[in-house]
Amino acid sequence: MGDLAGHTVAELGAGAGHQAAYVAAELGTARVTAIDSSAAQHTRSRDFYGDVCGLEFVHSDAAGYLQTHPGSLDVACSIFGALDFSDPQRLFPAAAVPLRPGGTLVFSTLAHYRTGAPPETECRPADIPTRMPDGRPGTMQRWVLGASVWKELLDEHGFDLVDSDTVHDPGPDDGVPVATNLFRARRRGRHPL
Ligand SMILES: C[S@@+](CC[C@H](N)C(=O)[O-])C[C@H]1O[C@@H](n2cnc3c(N)ncnc32)[C@H](O)[C@@H]1O
Repeated sequence: MGDLAGHTVAELGAGAGHQAAYVAAELGTARVTAIDSSAAQHTRSRDFYGDVCGLEFVHSDAAGYLQTHPGSLDVACSIFGALDFSDPQRLFPAAAVPLRPGGTLVFSTLAHYRTGAPPETECRPADIPTRMPDGRPGTMQRWVLGASVWKELLDEHGFDLVDSDTVHDPGPDDGVPVATNLFRARRRGRHPL
């Protein structure tokens, strides 16, 4: 994410808040906003890190929150977060609202399905198995897209790709190797003078 000293940062889909708390406590930021749409995760994050200075917690859909906070952010990030689990055609334009021109969008996402199946070649979600809050098995939508699809979406929604990488994890001995795609992009547009 670069030098974050004095910057405003939002994590989209912050879960229990571990990364947001680290950024707020260690990297000299002006403010970190940890956004999550799950009431349970929001409560957990506040219980864990409610006392971290400069860290605020927002219980909201990420796109809904971003759209109503124009010009408020230097950096937005999603760590297997909202960008994995909500439509990027809605979330990318929403992220462009609070990010100042030249602001950074960083995200990590699955490079392929956990089964080893290849990612989608178009922007469409898949229903993936999960456990519901009451413990019963269910499904949820996840956007597992090829790197070229992410790059096209970024461009389409006003972001210039700065760099991208794929990190390979051998995974468990008896399981499928896991690969993660990382992207860093900048919001297009001129800095206000
Ligand atoms: C796999 S967890 C990752 C949490 C955290 N980033 C981490 O790495 O530990 C995904 C999180 O994204 C949240 N999430 C999914 N869609 C979201 C959305 N549209 N807006 C905000 N949060 C969302 C979920 O509630 C969940 O807490």
